[in-house]
Amino acid sequence: MGSRTAYIRSVGRFLPEKRLTNEDLEKMVDTTSEWILTRTGIRERRILEPGLGNSYMAVRAARECLERAQVSPEEIEVIIVGTITPDMPFPATACLVQKELGASRAWGFDLSAGCSGFIFALSTAAQMIESGGQEKILVIGSDVMSRIMDYQDRNTCILFGDGAGAVLLEPCPDKDHGILDYIHHTDGSGGDLLCLKAGGSLRPPTLESVRNREHYVRQQGSQVFKYAVKEMAQVSGAILERNGLTGEDLALFLPHQANLRIIDACAQRMGIDRDRVIINVDRYANTTAGTIPLCLYDALVEQNRVKKGDYLVMSAFGAGFTWGSVLLRWW
Ligand code: COA
Repeated sequence: MGSRTAYIRSVGRFLPEKRLTNEDLEKMVDTTSEWILTRTGIRERRILEPGLGNSYMAVRAARECLERAQVSPEEIEVIIVGTITPDMPFPATACLVQKELGASRAWGFDLSAGCSGFIFALSTAAQMIESGGQEKILVIGSDVMSRIMDYQDRNTCILFGDGAGAVLLEPCPDKDHGILDYIHHTDGSGGDLLCLKAGGSLRPPTLESVRNREHYVRQQGSQVFKYAVKEMAQVSGAILERNGLTGEDLALFLPHQANLRIIDACAQRMGIDRDRVIINVDRYANTTAGTIPLCLYDALVEQNRVKKGDYLVMSAFGAGFTWGSVLLRWW
């Protein structure tokens, strides 16, 4: 890392009001509330109301984040939105957020890395700050997964929800604190196991693609599950080891919220007991790029559990495949 580090100064979130419970899903597909709860740990998820897009959530999460820090939108230099469900293919959601926030000096872009979108965006932004090039960056993870769910497919529609989180990154006053390290990976050979086949340049929308329901997420759940457990645990262990730490040293583990069984397996392999793991998959399900900032919000704001000097690890695994970990020492 360079002569300075970046730290997370503030956090904000947006969760739609509407709840879709397991009992609601029982009426939509051939499933039971009990099956969903025991196989995934999910009880309910939030659904954004029709007519609103990703930027609606992203802007609200960003506004709360800036208000908490008492920073005005004009002070923001860069906006990065981790997402796979932008309002539209282009302009980027970051541009819509820039306009709506009134962040008149900011440039920005979207970053597409599935469920790793937020941590990839966070480490990208941290590098910009470490290099001395930027002073204030908004990093947002936001996804409206309900818009790409097939509510006739019980394999996928039970797993995902909508939500957004935002953080403000600034240079850390002490370079032994802040974002200390990251390890990220991509393995494109897993692409077909979790994807959205149509709607891009290879298979533009046609009547046939719509009829075949190709604009929805398709997933080979059990194969993704095995890969996710193995790689998330490995990368989380590797970042600790590289920094001379063990699971014992961690104050909190903030894992991607895909499935409670994946979270438990990772924590167990890292030697971290459940009370040091942030879990909200029961309430929000998998919000893709939203999960990790939503976990951070729970830890910081809802539970007031983070203090200066604490070591935190964030880990994610997602479509691509993409996965990685970020190590922070809280300032
Ligand atoms: N209700 C009832 N039964 C269901 C169901 C549902 N909602 N979804 C799938 N099933 C059935 C399957 O059809 C299968 O039936 P079969 O044996 O007759 O074919 C059976 O349950 C077992 O399926 P399997 O896929 O082996 O179950 P699983 O233990 O792997 O759990 C997931 C399924 C999807 C919950 C799990 O694989 C998972 O969470 N995978 C990771 C998904 C993920 O998080 N992806 C996002 C990126 S990280």
